[in-house]
Amino acid sequence: MQIGIIGAGTMGAGIAQVAAQNNEKVFLIDVNEEVLNKASLNVKSTLQKLVEKEKITSEKATEIFSNITFSSDFNLLKPADLVIEAIVEKIEIKHKVFAQLENIVSESCILASNTSSLPIASIGSVLKNPSRIIGIHFFNPAPLMPLVEIIPAVQTEEEITKKVEQIISSWGKFACICKDTPGFIVNRVARPFYGEALRIYEEGIADFATIDWAMTHFGGFKMGPFTLMDYIGNDVNYAVTESVFAAFYYDPRFKPSFTQRRHMEAGFYGRKSGRGYYNYAEGTVLPEPNKDEVIGQKIFNRIIVMLINEAFDALFMQVASKEAIDIAMMKGVNYPKGLLAWADELGLPWILNELENLFQEYGEDRYRPNPLLKRMVKDF
Ligand code: NAI
Repeated sequence: MQIGIIGAGTMGAGIAQVAAQNNEKVFLIDVNEEVLNKASLNVKSTLQKLVEKEKITSEKATEIFSNITFSSDFNLLKPADLVIEAIVEKIEIKHKVFAQLENIVSESCILASNTSSLPIASIGSVLKNPSRIIGIHFFNPAPLMPLVEIIPAVQTEEEITKKVEQIISSWGKFACICKDTPGFIVNRVARPFYGEALRIYEEGIADFATIDWAMTHFGGFKMGPFTLMDYIGNDVNYAVTESVFAAFYYDPRFKPSFTQRRHMEAGFYGRKSGRGYYNYAEGTVLPEPNKDEVIGQKIFNRIIVMLINEAFDALFMQVASKEAIDIAMMKGVNYPKGLLAWADELGLPWILNELENLFQEYGEDRYRPNPLLKRMVKDF
């Protein structure tokens, strides 16, 4: 197949590598020559590392690299079967690019966006034939992260979704189909992992290190929420939270936190700026958690029931199937278990009871138990 990718930044270059490794002929297009050079060097050095680790032979690395054409010429996209756009997250710019693109590619070419937060329906609205628009959402770094969310818009033809699912699966990725709703699966369902942790901190229940410990110790998460936010970057994580909150018409479940906002405003982005919730300056020792088992268990319980409630909401609103929701959280953000399978393990009546206690104590809509969860407990 011939794959076009527009935008040679972090995501575009990574997706190009994935396609090239799967023997596709790739055209990686960017308006910025410097970015193209950097992308070419990055892909080359990543492939070199794979050779050093003996994951691929040097002949294979050369072959993969030669599958990618780095260029600023959009006309190269003429023979493409699929074009994936990965440019800046601005709807006006995406609209312009898609309108231009449709005049270049063939009528059968599938047009996809890697957007994390913009509605696919809106991106496709500028097309003469919007039935070929679809979201193909990779995770960063694309060559390593096994999940890809596939998002048909209201305009998308069913056949296109099937074809894209086939292509993405053939690239060795877990393809999870989900509805064109804010945050898709992962960026929606994962919100309480950060939001509830921040809330627990704000209430003075525990410090960052203790909350992180509670989630790794009792939950088996690879990283606690604050360590993870410092990895993602507070600027990036806050922006996602704010956009999901606005897109859900300010549903209090997704309310951003002042603590995170202040950290972002102070430039405490996390690892990349040397300081986030933790200080990463050389010689600084990370704080020790308070390993009080009772507090730790309470923190874990509160965050896990909020995550499960969100997973139930995604299922209730038919954002994706039960299997897709569970796979997405395991393959997109490395959760140790799928949240809905985890819910069965913990027991639905217990989860509902925890949520009802929180709802009663706080009187906030944020803690309202999902109707599907309530129904399932009732019918049990
Ligand atoms: P980036 O800033 O690294 O790269 C964007 C690239 O697009 C730049 O190289 C820029 O020169 C190019 N560009 C801008 N306007 C263009 C145009 N009109 N024509 C051609 N190229 C143009 O951005 P990144 O992080 O790679 O994100 C790209 C898309 O992927 C966004 O929609 C973002 O929401 C999404 N995404 C980002 C993830 C991440 O972790 N960075 C994860 C998943 C999705």
